[in-house]
Amino acid sequence: MIEGRASLLSFTDIPGAPPPGTALGMLAEMADNTSRSLEFRDGDKRLEIFLHRLGDDVVAFHNRCPHAGAPLDWQPNRFLDSTGTVFLCAVHGARFRRHDGFCLSGPCAGAFLQPVGVKVAKGMIYAA
Ligand code: FES
Repeated sequence: MIEGRASLLSFTDIPGAPPPGTALGMLAEMADNTSRSLEFRDGDKRLEIFLHRLGDDVVAFHNRCPHAGAPLDWQPNRFLDSTGTVFLCAVHGARFRRHDGFCLSGPCAGAFLQPVGVKVAKGMIYAA
């Protein structure tokens, strides 16, 4: 499966999420190369994203594998494989680059995780 990169999902498009510009936490609260899940609900609509710190930056993705739609994490807030260099889908083992969510191997090789807009400024992580 080869798909183009999905367009950035804004917090305005996530049901129940706070508006863009809302602080999501301090960068220093996340160790480098760790992830944190956030779940948003609006009525029966639910969407889970995860933040991942890469040095002084943070990336975010919809926690949904492009193969069969399963959440990636194999334990709460645990998204990396044993090498600590790629995200691993716990269901069928797809591996994804951390900085852009590109699937390197597995049943959805060539596809991307859905990126979500976040930014870091003055040590804070903000919804975008
Ligand atoms: S659901 Fe992720 S690889 Fe199948």
